Amino acid sequence: MDNVIPNRYRQRTMTRTLQDVIRAYDASATTDRAVTIPSAWYTDPRIHALERKAVFGSSWQWVGRLEQLREIGRYVTASVAGEPIVAVRDRKGRLQAFHNVCRHHAAAVCSLPEGKASALRCPYHGWTYGLDGRLEGVPQFESARDFDKSEFGLVPVRVDTWADFVFVNIDGAAPPLNEFARPLIERVAAFDLDKLRFAERRSYELACNWKVYVDNYLDGGYHVPFIHKALGSVLDNAGYTIENEDRVCVQTSPIRPDRGDAETASVRAGDTALYVWLYPNFMINCYEGVMDVNLVLPLALDRTLVIFDFFFADGGSIEDHEREISIKVAERIQHEDMDICESVQRGLSSRAYDVGRLSPRREAGEHLFHRLLYNDLNAALDGS
Ligand code: FES
Ligand SMILES: [Fe+2]
Repeated sequence: MDNVIPNRYRQRTMTRTLQDVIRAYDASATTDRAVTIPSAWYTDPRIHALERKAVFGSSWQWVGRLEQLREIGRYVTASVAGEPIVAVRDRKGRLQAFHNVCRHHAAAVCSLPEGKASALRCPYHGWTYGLDGRLEGVPQFESARDFDKSEFGLVPVRVDTWADFVFVNIDGAAPPLNEFARPLIERVAAFDLDKLRFAERRSYELACNWKVYVDNYLDGGYHVPFIHKALGSVLDNAGYTIENEDRVCVQTSPIRPDRGDAETASVRAGDTALYVWLYPNFMINCYEGVMDVNLVLPLALDRTLVIFDFFFADGGSIEDHEREISIKVAERIQHEDMDICESVQRGLSSRAYDVGRLSPRREAGEHLFHRLLYNDLNAALDGS
């Protein structure tokens, strides 16, 4: 039995301090020798708490689409690192983002996912903020002493855009978005984003840690022939490529000219499928005339929300019924991924598992993800 988990790993599972759990991972190993991050990273609430600050709080996080924010007063709300955020177009036409937290008693000022308002009024006691975040209306405060309205505006958050995508960085220390996401921006440019139009959003809740879903995305097509039979039949898995750059992993797969499953083939056109991941939780998937964008949000240690925004080429080249089929195909693939991710989460809680090995041919993206995580968590330990 002692051979089931090598002793060096078993020792790691028995250690207790957060520092030990993080530093059990060896970020210096090459992919052909590396092991995965330890299973404790997927099950330990201390890791989950540290990730909020060190991973989600310090990176650029996607909060909405620019087309939702074109007119003055339009806003979107989001949760970033577990904190409520609102992005809004102000009266001068500037895009602004704030902590969506009332300066009175901390209620969410904007409580809908998106909307349009002439001012941002808190639903709790009616404090009203301008679209630029300034506190304007404060009912029942006439006799308050030492109270200066100008000190109680909404707290701003750094916001930036690329193409149709609005991102925020809540700790304010990330490199500029065009630098943070540069390899992604360059690779996706070839897909003519200007011609794509948003069609629909769908969300999925999974019983797994968010990293299980990202790992699955980054296994370089390893699981495709086993888990996604229909998709696998239209991709040439032997020609799959995986490239890492900075915080980005680019995966491509040739699409088979002879095609497999007819329904999948009808909506997965072109020569190449392109799958681009931006650390930590943003993905863009492109086929000819079809794109979906995914955001992976931790709801709890073992609950994850995955948001899919579907886009299609403008100009009628893709008919309505094809859009429906395309979304149906994506949804079937998503359910296949969800089932296996939930299975993995159960396994990660088993005493029989601590770490796994990586396929050097396939899992370099996953290896990049683990090292980036390690860097952020380890740096936060040093800073805390
Ligand atoms: S919490 Fe917003 S007005 Fe009281
Ligand atoms: Fe998959």
